[in-house]
Amino acid sequence: MRLITALLLYAAAAWAGPLDVRVESGPRDVRVESGARSAADWWQTALVYQIYPRSFKDSDGDGIGDLNGITEKLPYLKDTGVDAIWMSPIFLSPMYDFGYDITDYRQIAPEYGTMDDFDNLLATAKEIGIRIILDFVPNHTGNESEWFIKSKNREPGYENYYVWADGIPSPDKAGVMLPPSNWISIFRKSAWEWCEERQQFYLHQFVVGQPDLNYRDPRVQQEMKDVLSYWLDKGVSGFRVDAINMMYEVDPKDFDGKYPDEPLSGDPNANPEDYEYLSHPYTRDLLETYDVVYDWRDLLNEHTQKDGEYKILMTEAYTDIELMIRYYGHGNRNGSIPFNFSFLGDINNHSNARDIKMIIDRFMTYIPIGKTANWVNGNHDQSRLASRHGTNRVDAMNMLALLLPGVTITYQGEEIGMTDGYVSWEDTKDPQACNTDDPINYYKKSRDPNRTPYHWDDSNQAGFSTANQTWLPVADNYKTVNLASQMKASKSHYKFYKDVVAVKKSDAVRFGDLDTRAFSENILVVTRLAHLNPGIVGIVNLSDEDQVVDLSSIKMLPGHLLYVAASGVDCSLDKWQIVLKNQVTVSGHCAIVLRTLLFNC
Ligand code: GLC
Ligand code: MG
Repeated sequence: MRLITALLLYAAAAWAGPLDVRVESGPRDVRVESGARSAADWWQTALVYQIYPRSFKDSDGDGIGDLNGITEKLPYLKDTGVDAIWMSPIFLSPMYDFGYDITDYRQIAPEYGTMDDFDNLLATAKEIGIRIILDFVPNHTGNESEWFIKSKNREPGYENYYVWADGIPSPDKAGVMLPPSNWISIFRKSAWEWCEERQQFYLHQFVVGQPDLNYRDPRVQQEMKDVLSYWLDKGVSGFRVDAINMMYEVDPKDFDGKYPDEPLSGDPNANPEDYEYLSHPYTRDLLETYDVVYDWRDLLNEHTQKDGEYKILMTEAYTDIELMIRYYGHGNRNGSIPFNFSFLGDINNHSNARDIKMIIDRFMTYIPIGKTANWVNGNHDQSRLASRHGTNRVDAMNMLALLLPGVTITYQGEEIGMTDGYVSWEDTKDPQACNTDDPINYYKKSRDPNRTPYHWDDSNQAGFSTANQTWLPVADNYKTVNLASQMKASKSHYKFYKDVVAVKKSDAVRFGDLDTRAFSENILVVTRLAHLNPGIVGIVNLSDEDQVVDLSSIKMLPGHLLYVAASGVDCSLDKWQIVLKNQVTVSGHCAIVLRTLLFNC
């Protein structure tokens, strides 16, 4: 009898599936109601997939990924359950910093394709229901930008587009100018570069070829709004905003007309040419920044109204949590979704279940009520998940990012657990590594290993390109770690990822209450419960041994029968099994997702 009841309940739950939810389009932030079923817009629970175009798929055999390559792979992304793709910059650029040094915000880099290719990508994506998010780089342009050339020649109107300052005559060498302050570039050495034409220094917080724009000039503010409008008019669904907290520097007017030196950080590991040698009160996290972001939000809201589709704005700032959450909005102003980098910065392969719970809870504690959370496991600037945490933890971390409330951001390759590739000093391209001038220790700074081409299959160049040589070498392990083989395998990182993406679209994950518990230092349990919907429980076992987990203490879980919606690579449990609530066996290094049989009420 019991068995029959269980089977009936099982069938009911399996049949129920995620229900359709009305998508509300409008600029208002819609609160994720706790416990209650409510309308939410696409962006509030989106899976955003980050594409690094140079390394995703090369369609024309030049060894460099391109827009047509992305278009070709859209069906794969759709099938995985991706809602939107964010592409790292695709614009005309000399590629000193691989597109983060933009010559013209309205032109496509020829190595990535043409504007027709872009239009085709956008139209194809729209057709199959994937939204396009562009990378917006407001802090700096490339030094080949027309604006920079005009500014360096002091063309009327353009004089103050960039941060210019007089040099200080050297006391030792006649005719030699020293930089106006001790400021250091994030990529090492002075952040000031002498410009012969203008006989002044310009500021570059990143490489020499990335001059910083001056947001104290209202014309610059308008130019950048026009750039946003240009792409919104084309039909993109929003932007990821680059290095936002570097946007302003102090106003020399407040410092006797000079740029003040920044204080020493006291970091014993930094040498005088390293960015870390100084602390940066005058060049980052300035309060003026927030109003610019809120103004962009207003502009995006106008387009949201016009298009009937919410335009998303996500900002990148590695900063303190208080400064970070302020990007969400302040007073009566709305802002962006600031990337939550806590999974990248605060969790490592030694973190135990309690540490991870606290990192999750901390973010959920700080996030303002009604705003959209987000979880980032990787990006083109950070060592890949599998290398940072070890392959053992890939499923666990992907699962957490997908089951927690709000937006999930997945960097290409994390869904198959790609590791960092080896890139020799000779092959190194990243300016951050090249600027170390250190053929031995360059790798500590290099972002190339996490930018190596995507592993599509086990053919030559991992199916990324037909070229003999790709812009960065393909990582050695592509024969064993690749999408094609993971699609074929009965269990794989990819299969698990895809299953959990499907769970992410359930009402419990979209709208449900969140409960996080560390049952021990090895067992982390994340529960999502929504009124009248099957509940979702994610369990991570961080230890090497099998563990039997008793979920009885989660009183809100109805009944005691659950079934498995997804089980990770290392898991002895299979999908579609019924397990007892007080006796869930989770294999060592395994992540599983359970779904309740009864509707939670
Ligand atoms: C951001 C980008 C990084 C780039 C830098 C300068 O941090 O993610 O790749 O080098 O900004 O634009
Ligand atoms: Mg190509």
